[in-house]
Amino acid sequence: MTHSRTRPAAGQVWNPEDYIGKAGFVAELGRGVLDLLAPRPDEHILDLGCGDGALTQRIAAASAVVTGLEPSAELAAVARQRGLRVIEGDAHDPFGQVQYDAIFSNAMFHWLRDPQQVIRNAFAALRPGGRLVVEQGGFGNVAAVTTALRAAMEAAGCADQARNPWDFPSPTTQRKRLETAGFQVEEIILFSRPTPLEAGMRGWLDTFAGAFLQDLPGDVQHVIKTDTERRLTSSLLDPEEGWIADYVRLRFHAVRPADG
Ligand SMILES: C[S@@+](CC[C@H](N)C(=O)[O-])C[C@H]1O[C@@H](n2cnc3c(N)ncnc32)[C@H](O)[C@@H]1O
Repeated sequence: MTHSRTRPAAGQVWNPEDYIGKAGFVAELGRGVLDLLAPRPDEHILDLGCGDGALTQRIAAASAVVTGLEPSAELAAVARQRGLRVIEGDAHDPFGQVQYDAIFSNAMFHWLRDPQQVIRNAFAALRPGGRLVVEQGGFGNVAAVTTALRAAMEAAGCADQARNPWDFPSPTTQRKRLETAGFQVEEIILFSRPTPLEAGMRGWLDTFAGAFLQDLPGDVQHVIKTDTERRLTSSLLDPEEGWIADYVRLRFHAVRPADG
């Protein structure tokens, strides 16, 4: 099966083959936040940025009525092949008329250009008493990787073309946004999660650094990625375990008050 690259509204580059082949760990490591969601039978749940639907399917397996929202038409198609209902859309736009019991999201919030808008949308789409349960990149996430990537871009003479697509907030910043929208924050934690990269650092850069490098020609991207790997070898390449990225996650559970 061949897929072309897609550019969803958020200006990212997602290739389903890359994503499924090299980023299966994203959904695999999202199991902890699924436990925090604790979906119950017949609950109406929205999965924001559901990607290929691997985690959405686990929510469906708990007999919840789950809908995915995903801006990449190609990832949405892969999720539909799993029998899932998926709305193609961007989380910055209102989510529609349904009042959900819960809104869930894994590894998506750090891609948002306006997180406050999306948090407002989530509040509006939850029934009073409904919950928002999210895991995302948090403060300091992949700091070594991005520092090396920037240095490699600078060495290649294209520092001014770096586009940082990510928002990695601290618990204090994200709590403030949630409370501004009217949420009551039940739990918010930041934790370090060193993450083995099965497809190596090169596979990770191919899948996730596209948004940094997308304006550059292919051969320049190649030089930058090779230099980034070289710079990271002494800090993130373990002789026994291979490449391990410096992931930091932010996980939270917030509730729309029953009278809110
Ligand atoms: C790293 S993937 C995670 C996919 C899935 N949640 C998982 O855990 O496997 C990030 C997903 O967020 C989606 N995404 C990015 N920006 C978005 C936005 N503005 N609105 C909705 N989804 C978005 C991407 O298209 C992609 O599918």
